[in-house]
Amino acid sequence: MPRLVSHPDEVKIVSRRFGKGAARIDRYLELGGYAAAKKCLAQGPEWIISEVKASNLRGRGGAGFPTGLKWSFVPKTSAKPKYVLVNGDESEPGTCKDHLIFQHDPHAVIEGAIIAGLAIGAKLGFIYMRGEYRGLLEIMEKAVAEAYAKGFLGKNIFGTDTEFQIITHSGAGAYEVGEESALMESLEGKRGVPRIKPPFPAVVGIYGGPTVINNAETIATVPHVIAMGGAAYAAAGSARNGGTRLFTVSGHVERPGVYELPMGYNLKKIIYEVAGGVRGGRALKAVVPGGCSTPVLLPEEIDIGMDFDQVGKAGSMLGSAAVIVIDDQTCMVEFALRTISFYQHESCGWCIPCREGTDWLKKTLTRFHAGFGTAKDIDNMQYIAENMMGRTFCPLGDAAAMPTLAFIKKFRAEFEEHLDGKACPFAKHAKLVVV
Ligand SMILES: Cc1cc2nc3c(=O)[nH]c(=O)nc-3n(C[C@H](O)[C@H](O)[C@H](O)COP(=O)(O)O)c2cc1C
Ligand code: SF4
Repeated sequence: MPRLVSHPDEVKIVSRRFGKGAARIDRYLELGGYAAAKKCLAQGPEWIISEVKASNLRGRGGAGFPTGLKWSFVPKTSAKPKYVLVNGDESEPGTCKDHLIFQHDPHAVIEGAIIAGLAIGAKLGFIYMRGEYRGLLEIMEKAVAEAYAKGFLGKNIFGTDTEFQIITHSGAGAYEVGEESALMESLEGKRGVPRIKPPFPAVVGIYGGPTVINNAETIATVPHVIAMGGAAYAAAGSARNGGTRLFTVSGHVERPGVYELPMGYNLKKIIYEVAGGVRGGRALKAVVPGGCSTPVLLPEEIDIGMDFDQVGKAGSMLGSAAVIVIDDQTCMVEFALRTISFYQHESCGWCIPCREGTDWLKKTLTRFHAGFGTAKDIDNMQYIAENMMGRTFCPLGDAAAMPTLAFIKKFRAEFEEHLDGKACPFAKHAKLVVV
């Protein structure tokens, strides 16, 4: 279980109940829980969606799609039932924020799912959790049972004639089922490969019914948006990026952990002030800003605000807000190899550019790192990665290609140092540690 950390610059909205025993429903109620759901029952769907739109809340799963807008795409009437789907697959390496929500504040996920259900007119929600999160699934299931016992879930929630039920579901340990359409396939009991889009889930989702799918952090944020008011939540962040974000800081820093900071908070400050600087006072070599599928940044590129737009402008992505800090003792060829090994292992194998591309890249990088690379290999790897980009059924192919291209572009000289049978120049140093 990740330990809790804190820093004076934190603005605790989503994490404000962490470490306060709120996994128990009575404590959650003492701390103001379920008031937002009751308010939403009284106010109705249009009001809920307008508050969420006003909050500038953008999806915390990686792509940053505006949540209120996504909810507004769900048709008002539908012959098929509508669904809410909470994405708790949390598999992007470097990321463990949803973990803390499930552990410390599971009722926030339930309350957020109820509110999403009220907004779109769904009577059933699913909470899909990463296969490896067995212990957290137990916490979540206990919380769901408590909510049923109190009458907050069921046929007549909070004593009204509105129905909302929740089913929890566990994955089997595949990164690919974090992708929304593969997740729906998996939930329906099929092999976890993505669906061709369009149609998008808001129109055709689980069992063919309109479905709102959101990341667990997005959903757990919604009760706070309602409690604070959309405009106040928006004001806590930066332009077009409302509120705060749970940043998972890992790698070579003094104080790794999950910190809740305003959207737009400076990346350099996250590393040097919030997380205590590079471990052992060593020099910074590179930073992966948003989980391992986001292109690496150089030290001179990190004086930027951490929101979707500003990180995009700097040539990378905010993604899952998992900041991986890399010191000067790290071999970037090995880092690239570790990264591509993950994608090669997790590729579902459905489309050729991803299945074969990740495999070629892994084989080439393995040989390269062992000192058997040739200058042509560098160009070949670049060519393979470029040809994966935009040519796959789901974004996992891009997620594998983008960081590879950035490693080659920004650390070409280091790749060249491995040529002609030379031993890895960093072999004498400790191995890389990525949380
Ligand atoms: C390969 C792959 C893995 C993904 N893994 C996750 C994940 O573990 N958790 C998550 O919330 N979103 C994940 N996503 C993003 C989802 O497809 C989807 O965009 C997200 O759940 C939408 O929720 P949001 O709008 O709240 O961000 C993944 C996407 C891809 C392509
Ligand atoms: S890009 Fe990779 S993970 Fe996605 S469908 Fe193709 S093979 Fe599967």
